Amino acid sequence: MDPAEDAVIAAEGLRVEADGRALLDGVELRVPAGRMLGLVGPNGAGKTTLLHTIAGLRRPAGGRVTVEGRAAHDLRPRELARVIAHVPQETALAFPFTAYEVTLMGRHPRLGRFALEGPADHRAAERAMAATGTAHLAGRDVTTLSGGERQLVLLAKALAQDTPVLLADEPVSALDLRHQLGVLRLLRDRADAGRTVLVVLHDLNLAARYCTELALLAGGRLVATGAPAHVLTPAHLDGAYGIRAMVRPDDLTGSLTVTALENP
Ligand SMILES: Nc1ncnc2c1ncn2[C@@H]1O[C@H](COP(=O)(O)OP(=O)(O)OP(=O)(O)O)[C@@H](O)[C@H]1O
Ligand SMILES: [Mg+2]
Repeated sequence: MDPAEDAVIAAEGLRVEADGRALLDGVELRVPAGRMLGLVGPNGAGKTTLLHTIAGLRRPAGGRVTVEGRAAHDLRPRELARVIAHVPQETALAFPFTAYEVTLMGRHPRLGRFALEGPADHRAAERAMAATGTAHLAGRDVTTLSGGERQLVLLAKALAQDTPVLLADEPVSALDLRHQLGVLRLLRDRADAGRTVLVVLHDLNLAARYCTELALLAGGRLVATGAPAHVLTPAHLDGAYGIRAMVRPDDLTGSLTVTALENP
C-alpha cells in the first residue's frame, strides 16, 4: 500500500523556490486525519511558505504536495475551498464589512454561482462566531476591530467554511492567554473529531500541550517530525534556533515545557 494513501496532507520531496533560492527543500510530511500537527521553527524558516503551498497559493518547483490525494494547485479555487480552510498570518482587513459578513464569506465556496446564503449557512456562521467568542462583534465593521478581535473573526470565517482540513498560520499570535487556550482547545477538539489541523505556533509550550505531533522547520528543511518529546530536544532546538534550552515535563499539565536560556 502506498504509505501516503491514508495521509490527508502529504508532501514528498517538496521544493519551493523564489528568485532562484530554495525556500523549502526536501520536505517530507504526512498528516493523517484526526491529527493536529504543530508547525514550529524560527522566523523565515518557511512555515508560511509551506502552508501556502499546501493551500495551492504557490506551485512547487520540485516534488509534490497533495491534499486528500490531489495536488492543491490542480484544483479549482472553489473546489479547493471546500477541502481546505486557511487562516492567514496577516489579519489586515481592507473593506468595511461587518464581522458577521466576513464570517459568512466562509460559506461562499459552498454556494452555487449566483445563489444566496440559506439558513444552514447562517447557522454555520452563527455557530462559528459563538465558538470563537465573537458573537458580540457580529454587527461591527471589521476595520474597527482590535488585532485580537480581527484574528478571532478570521478564525470564525475558517470554521464556518466547515472543511475537513484547516490550516492556521499563527492563529493565537494576537490573543490573550484565555483566548489562546480557547482557540487551541477548539482546534484540538476538531482534530479529535476526525478533521486534520495544521497550525503554526511560535509558543513551543502551547505547541507541546495541544498538538498531537510537531514538525520543526529551519532554513526550509524539516529538522524533526513526530511526538513533541521526539521533536523538542535541546539538540534540535539548538540546531533550529541557536538557543540553549531546558526541556522538562510540566508538573501541572504533564506536557513538555521549554525554557530558553540566555547564551552566556
Ligand atoms: N516571494 C518571495 N520572494 C523571496 N523570498 C521570499 C518570498 N516569500 C518568502 N520569502 C522568504 O522565504 C523565507 C520563508 O518565509 P516564510 O514566510 O515562509 O517564513 P515563516 O517561517 O513563516 O516566518 P515567520 O515566523 O516570520 O512568519 C523568508 O526568508 C522569506 O523572506
Ligand atoms: Mg509565517
